[in-house]
Amino acid sequence: MKLIAGNWKMHGLSADAAVLQALIAARVPAGVELLLCPPATLVAQFAAIARGSEVAIGAQDCHPAEKGAHTGDISAAMLADAGASHVIVGHSERRADHGEHSALVRAKANAAQAAGLRPIVCVGETLSEREAGETLAIITAQLQGSRPDGADFIIAYEPVWAIGTGRTPTLAEVAEVHGEIARLAPATRILYGGSVKPGNAAELLGVAHVDGALVGGASLKASDFLAIADSQA
Ligand code: PGA
Repeated sequence: MKLIAGNWKMHGLSADAAVLQALIAARVPAGVELLLCPPATLVAQFAAIARGSEVAIGAQDCHPAEKGAHTGDISAAMLADAGASHVIVGHSERRADHGEHSALVRAKANAAQAAGLRPIVCVGETLSEREAGETLAIITAQLQGSRPDGADFIIAYEPVWAIGTGRTPTLAEVAEVHGEIARLAPATRILYGGSVKPGNAAELLGVAHVDGALVGGASLKASDFLAIADSQA
C-alpha cells in the first residue's frame, strides 16, 4: 500500500472542505491510502466529513506535553480527540521557523504515539549539506535523534531544497537515501516529499523503498492530488 499524504501547511479555510469532498467522492485507486493534513483549525471539521470514507485526516504538528500551561499550543490528545489519526512532526519548516531540534521532534513523536496518533517524522538535508557530501550523515543523525520509542511511525524524506521549489533529486539520489533509511529503520514506511507533482509522481513512487509521498502545494487541488494517487494505479 502506498500512502499519499497531503500537507496543506498554512493554507485552507472551512470553505476548502470542497477539496476534501472531491477526494472522498473520487474512487481511491487500489493499493493507495489517502491522508490529508489540513491546518489545526480544520482538523475537527475535516475528520467529521471524512468519517467512514477512505480519506484519513492528520495534523501538521503537536506539542510534546500531554497538557499544561502552553498558550497557543495543541496537544496530540487534542488532535486525536478532534479525529486525527496521524500527525506530521519535525517538518523542515518547523525545524527552520521554530528552531525545532531532533530531541524535541522525538518528544513530539512520542507524545503522538501516547495519544494513539501515528507520527510522520520528517528528515531532510539542506542544499549546502548535500553539496558538502553530508546527506547520509545528516539523515542518519536526524533519524536517530527524532524517531520515537514505539515502532508505529512513518518517515518522510524531504530534501529541504526540494520543498516548494519545483526541484527534485535524481531518482538515484532518492534511492540512495531511501535505501539508507530502510536499513536504519526496517519495516517502517518511508515517504518521499519535495515538489511531488502529477508529472513526476509515477517515477518517484517507483523508486525502491519509496512507500508513498508527502505532497505540499499539489495537495491543495483535488485534481492534482488525485492524479498523484492515480499514478500508482
Ligand atoms: P511541496 O511541499 O510538495 O510543496 O514541495 C512538500 C512538503 O513540504 O511536505
